[in-house]
Amino acid sequence: MIPLLRPAMSPEVPARVARVIDSGLVGHGPVVEEFERALRARVGNPYLAAVNSGSSALHLALRLVADRPGGDGRRRDEVLATPLTFEASNWAVLANGLRLRWVDVDPASLNVDLDDLERKLSPATRAVVVVHWGGYPVDLRRLATILDRAEAAWGHRPAAVEDCAHAWGSTFEGRPLGNHGNLCVFSFHAIKHLTCGSGGLLVAADDETYRRARLLRWYGIDRSADRVHGDYDVAEWGYNFHLNEIEAAIGLANLDLVDANVRAHRDNAAYYDRELAGVAGVELTERRPDRESSYWLYPLKVRDRPAFMRRMTAAGIMTSVVIRRNDAHSCVRDAATDLPGLDRVHERMVHIPVGWWLSERDREHVVRTIRAGW
Ligand SMILES: Cc1ncc(COP(=O)(O)O)c(C=O)c1O
Repeated sequence: MIPLLRPAMSPEVPARVARVIDSGLVGHGPVVEEFERALRARVGNPYLAAVNSGSSALHLALRLVADRPGGDGRRRDEVLATPLTFEASNWAVLANGLRLRWVDVDPASLNVDLDDLERKLSPATRAVVVVHWGGYPVDLRRLATILDRAEAAWGHRPAAVEDCAHAWGSTFEGRPLGNHGNLCVFSFHAIKHLTCGSGGLLVAADDETYRRARLLRWYGIDRSADRVHGDYDVAEWGYNFHLNEIEAAIGLANLDLVDANVRAHRDNAAYYDRELAGVAGVELTERRPDRESSYWLYPLKVRDRPAFMRRMTAAGIMTSVVIRRNDAHSCVRDAATDLPGLDRVHERMVHIPVGWWLSERDREHVVRTIRAGW
């Protein structure tokens, strides 16, 4: 089987992890700080805090923007969100006591439909969560314009949280994600472009949010405080979300691989874009010149998806729908609404292998199999 996803582990990982274990310090320490320095240099943003998963980073991001009454006393507890994502993006909203309001999906990009988002923004909107599905960036310029208009109309700007879990290496208008004025969340889960085994990252747009995030990721305690004598105060309670030295060591080693791996994903995606364009029964997703995907996933829209997946499995090629539309879950039945854009794509959407592990022969085999029909 040609796998859909694989962990990218550097051969340097065992030695780095062994050094951490020998040091006797495996909690939070200098390796996490070294990893954060390396991430700052890569993302190009100083305001970042490593945490122990993308889900923790999302939870923290939503906590940072959670509802407080506005100047007019109104509760602003609604979060506009996409149902086409892994559940982690949306359950973080619920975990913070905020209300989900579904925004439709743009069938071309599989990202959030910004027209629908603009229509659904209201004075009750506390935040919007957008997901760069598969690594393909949302139009962040348009999003900023929409939020500017909301601010001008209501005197408060809904926060924007970008779920960049798939998008390490993606750029919008030439800059890496994490630099467009929003709270951004990355995942370093086992099979992501950059893996710590488990890990995540929160990137803030300003110093104050960054400082709050660093405190909240570890109970609200300032790590430089005098805990030996108990001489410290917690002004705002937080969580046990910190990354440990072992995970940071794995991440540091894997940073050496990640650029070449993202290039390989992009090269395979460009090959599919060329070879699958115009093939009967297949529709490619949108490509825009102002953004570049990391192609963690390569989504396709296909006719008769069950037959397509059976044919691919028979040919030794793994495919997956990856997620269930989140609005279909019974725990969020109260938020149900019409989503015609999502209805048009969710039964046609499927992902084919695009990763660094594909050989020239593998990707030719994928294309030949699809072209032969199903
Ligand atoms: C879109 C999206 N957001 C968030 C997450 C959660 O990341 P983690 O597994 O690091 O908690 C995932 C995990 O796959 C994801 O796909």
